Amino acid sequence: MTDRYAVIGNPIAHSKSPLIHAEFARQTDQDMTYAAMLAPLEDFAGTVKKFQSEGGKGLNVTVPFKQEAWKLATLLTDRARLAEAVNTLKFEPDGTMLGDNTDGAGLTRDIRENRGISFAGKRVLLMGAGGAARGVLLPLLLQKPERLTIANRTPEKAVELERHFAAYGRVEGGDYARLAGSLFDIVINATSSSLSDALPPLPQGVFAPGALAYDMMYGKGLTPFLQFAQANGAAHLADGLGMLVEQAAESFFLWRGVRPQTQSVITLLKSC
Ligand code: ATR
Repeated sequence: MTDRYAVIGNPIAHSKSPLIHAEFARQTDQDMTYAAMLAPLEDFAGTVKKFQSEGGKGLNVTVPFKQEAWKLATLLTDRARLAEAVNTLKFEPDGTMLGDNTDGAGLTRDIRENRGISFAGKRVLLMGAGGAARGVLLPLLLQKPERLTIANRTPEKAVELERHFAAYGRVEGGDYARLAGSLFDIVINATSSSLSDALPPLPQGVFAPGALAYDMMYGKGLTPFLQFAQANGAAHLADGLGMLVEQAAESFFLWRGVRPQTQSVITLLKSC
């Protein structure tokens, strides 16, 4: 029996996940299929349960259902519990619906393994305090940076994240204005500002020598944040394509117990 997987979202037609997982399956010789599945906005739970009852083995969950998936899962990994969002569901033979969140592991792996940049002793700035930021916070803190600062347009949300994650490392949250005069080695954009071609109000001069600017979004050409970073002296620029492939690899590993090669898939997607 071929094992069935899918990515579920709304909209879903443009998802790159089917291509990524097909490549992983081919590479590691796994007997599986991976489809794109559109769920009606009002019936995410019903769509998931139907897939499970038909023998489906696992799902990736994308916009706008990650929080609903967190509520639906019957067992959560620590990183999913704290993220309050699930991007990977695994259906166990005993009926358990395991919820995981591989986004943060994808981000940190892309930075460490693919870019060769370690977090040890680094001053990290995370911009944004919405679902995307929350989803990567635990894995970031577990990398033990020197400190992690969260900046958000609505500062209360960054302060709330500081409270939520304070037990896991040195983290502080606030607004953008208070960043003036500080230097950061790794600056990560987890806001949705690029979607509207906008830029978070980051003060000038925050990029330390050798700094990495990382945008969790990706697209054709540089995002507004990466353009700003380039003009303001960031030494390294990265968009979220590597993270996309790495979070997929992490899900694949959870499901299949094999770790696929990611570099060739990143190269393939860049050429698409
Ligand atoms: P996501 O799931 O993508 O994180 P979200 O939960 O709606 O989406 O959060 C969007 C994040 O992007 C928030 O941190 C938001 O800031 P506010 O909390 O102040 O709304 C941030 N954001 C969106 N557009 C922005 C902009 N133009 N400048 C700065 N921050 C922006």
